[in-house]
Amino acid sequence: MGQPIGIFDSGLGGLTVVRAIRDRLPAESIVYFGDTARVPYGTKSGEAVARFACEDCEFLCRYDPKFIVVACNTASAAALPALSRRFRLPILGVIEPGARAAEAVGDGRPIGILGTERTIASGAYRRAIERRLPGTRLVERACPLLVPLVEEGRGPGDPIVRAALAEYLQPMVEAGVGAVVLGCTHYPLLKDGFAEALGPGVRLVDSAEAVADEVAYLLTTYGLREPSGRGDLRLLVSDNPERFQAVGRWFLGDEMPPVTHVSPEDFFGGARPEGKGEEPA
Ligand code: DGL
Repeated sequence: MGQPIGIFDSGLGGLTVVRAIRDRLPAESIVYFGDTARVPYGTKSGEAVARFACEDCEFLCRYDPKFIVVACNTASAAALPALSRRFRLPILGVIEPGARAAEAVGDGRPIGILGTERTIASGAYRRAIERRLPGTRLVERACPLLVPLVEEGRGPGDPIVRAALAEYLQPMVEAGVGAVVLGCTHYPLLKDGFAEALGPGVRLVDSAEAVADEVAYLLTTYGLREPSGRGDLRLLVSDNPERFQAVGRWFLGDEMPPVTHVSPEDFFGGARPEGKGEEPA
């Protein structure tokens, strides 16, 4: 088995990216870290998120990844340049692939950008889309209620989700957007609700799918692609593996392997949590 792809997120949401990459690149092994002890990142300061993201990346490096995907929009917005400077391996965030996908569906109508408070405040999606589509009107909106609603297991048909979407999407409907960027890991799970609230003819940009396409392209370009077979999927979290296991099924579908808990001593201590107790070779 070759080197894995390392993927991290603040918690569960990055599993939407794992699923898209598993579908697109089934031969690749994946080590996923969800920082469930410190989720949500979306309401924290940029400095805190950048520090967490560096620590998450450092932790994943113990698994000798060939490539790292920052599956969290908030961490990508706050920390990608710092991560790329600090780590000597290819690191991909979700913002650029999402912006590229927005460019592909842009039809001259305004484009909506949705995300956590931190992602929207960073302006990262706005800048990335403005570079590609100068002059296009962009309508941004933070949707802080959506992450906790999804974490609670509420889907697109839930009345509270419907009410929140109607409120958050009102400015997009008024502006006559042609596309909306789902700039948060959790939002693809509410796709049907977005489609209903926005009405027909509005394209939804799912950054998870755009990231999977980009990972496939980059691995091929770097000659790092696993030729065949079915890769492993390892899931590690910093708190409450039971909850992750239960809710994660919604994100990941049928393929839900056991979830390993990473204690603070393991996380900050430098050892692989699964390696504990093994006899030295
Ligand atoms: N993963 C985060 C994102 O995509 C959402 C959850 C959080 O706020 O940590 O922005």
